[in-house]
Amino acid sequence: MKNPIVAPSVLSADFSNFASALIEIEAAGAEWVHLDVMDGHFVPNLTFGPKLVEDLRHQSSAVFDVHLMVEGPENLIEAFAKAGADAITFHVEAVVHSHRLLGAIHGLGKKAGISIVPSTPVSYIEELLPVADLVLVMTVNPGFGGQELIPQCLEKIRTLVRLREKQGLHFLISVDGGVNESTAAMVREAGADVLITGSSFFKAQDKARLVGHLKGI
Ligand code: DX5
Ligand code: ZN
Repeated sequence: MKNPIVAPSVLSADFSNFASALIEIEAAGAEWVHLDVMDGHFVPNLTFGPKLVEDLRHQSSAVFDVHLMVEGPENLIEAFAKAGADAITFHVEAVVHSHRLLGAIHGLGKKAGISIVPSTPVSYIEELLPVADLVLVMTVNPGFGGQELIPQCLEKIRTLVRLREKQGLHFLISVDGGVNESTAAMVREAGADVLITGSSFFKAQDKARLVGHLKGI
């Protein structure tokens, strides 16, 4: 089993100092930065738009993993691509033409991801798997950091691993919500490739130790 990538979410950072959050993420040995975009409609919370991603892009060469929790994500992908996102993930629950949108993200030269909330089964996205670079499994109901992981969602990771193997595909499986020192082992064992971590990362005194622990090193 490969050690997963760790992607701290700046959702739990101090919003008055994102630049220092980036420094902490890189110093801790995490490879990706997870950027949670919320619109107050798809989820009951608001965060930030492409301007933040653009400004942070000048400060970091880490992989920027943008997670759009918005209605109408098709209207925002170009702005986030131009701002410097490396991967753009949208929710299939927010889109009718998900297949087209994955193609449009690829057309902008970016990795394309799809995400499902806890109530959406893997079967809903099966047809999309051959064209996705990333499948983000939400293990909490999206909108807020600091919630508890819903263990039933882990079965979806196992299902995705099986489908990937069976169909000879190469998408990465990322897991978002309630990933911390106590839950990381079961998330890794289920087969996750990317562990997203918000509150546990920014609360940790020793962030490098936490990242190592999440990776299972
Ligand atoms: C939740 C976000 C997550 C969140 C995870 O809607 O998509 O990325 O930041 O936070 P924790 O790790 O605190 O559950
Ligand atoms: Zn997220």
